[in-house]
Amino acid sequence: MKPVLAVVGSMNMDLVARAPRMPIPGETIIGGEFRVVPGGKGANQAVASARLGARVSLIGRVGDDSFGRTLIDGLDSSGVDVTHVRIDAATATGVALIVVDDTGQNSIVVAPGANMCLSPADVDAAQQAILAADVLLLQLESPVHTVKRAAELAKAHGITVVLNPAPAQPVPDALLALVDILVPNESETVMLTGLPVGDERACAVAANVLLEMGVATVILTLGDRGALLAHQGSFNRVPAFPVSPVDTTAAGDAFLGGFAVALAEGRPLPEAVVWGNAAGGLATTKLGAQPSLPTREAVEAVVSKYEEEHRAPCI
Ligand code: RIB
Repeated sequence: MKPVLAVVGSMNMDLVARAPRMPIPGETIIGGEFRVVPGGKGANQAVASARLGARVSLIGRVGDDSFGRTLIDGLDSSGVDVTHVRIDAATATGVALIVVDDTGQNSIVVAPGANMCLSPADVDAAQQAILAADVLLLQLESPVHTVKRAAELAKAHGITVVLNPAPAQPVPDALLALVDILVPNESETVMLTGLPVGDERACAVAANVLLEMGVATVILTLGDRGALLAHQGSFNRVPAFPVSPVDTTAAGDAFLGGFAVALAEGRPLPEAVVWGNAAGGLATTKLGAQPSLPTREAVEAVVSKYEEEHRAPCI
């Protein structure tokens, strides 16, 4: 049986320019290639999960414009159920302005548009899709009270609630209390804990602070340092896969998709983190958000190689 996921989150059209380096304030620099690609953290996580074989429903909002229609069509052709994507006549579709430098790092400004009109009533209207899911995926590019409403619904019905607290911002205690698995990256961890994440020990201390806030499972995603899984007093570091990054945009979203699909398939947490790392690493090897999200075949190949390398030797 296919794993079933629900995602409540954002949809953006990404306007991506390559540049040799990031401009400093007040500076204009001449960049390179420009592309318009579908993105948005919610939509990216939905597409990442669908590409890995899950049945996924996205609850979101776009404007009544060509970007919105293109985003919906793209999700539909990736196999994401868009029944609960509402077209808002009063606002524009969300847009992200992205610069990607020669090292593959990015800088992003999001003009959220319709994403900020996603309401608790939209979540209630999609109740059936949320309650049918094994896992609910949430991020913070939508209004926090809407995210909280989705978490409340899922939690009340025993559905695993995964929060990716991105982009970095404070998370109300009332929302954290509803979260089963928190997946922040480095800057989000610093924002939530006020602590550095410079080395392995610092990461463990920060993860522990997040556990003490009442979340049962914390996974820090650490870019080319891999991920740290903290659960029931134990810490498990899962290394990243070696890649030559072209663009790190949506690597975190790919991680969330890979992790959530593996979890919904009943794989143990450490194995699900390996799936997340594989999907996240592969996503950095192509330009753009949704075009870079890997297929199941590609992720399985990387995971098998990892298992082969980490298999205990026979005695
Ligand atoms: O996580 C990457 C995404 O962040 C981009 O696709 C952009 O739309 C912003 O939401």
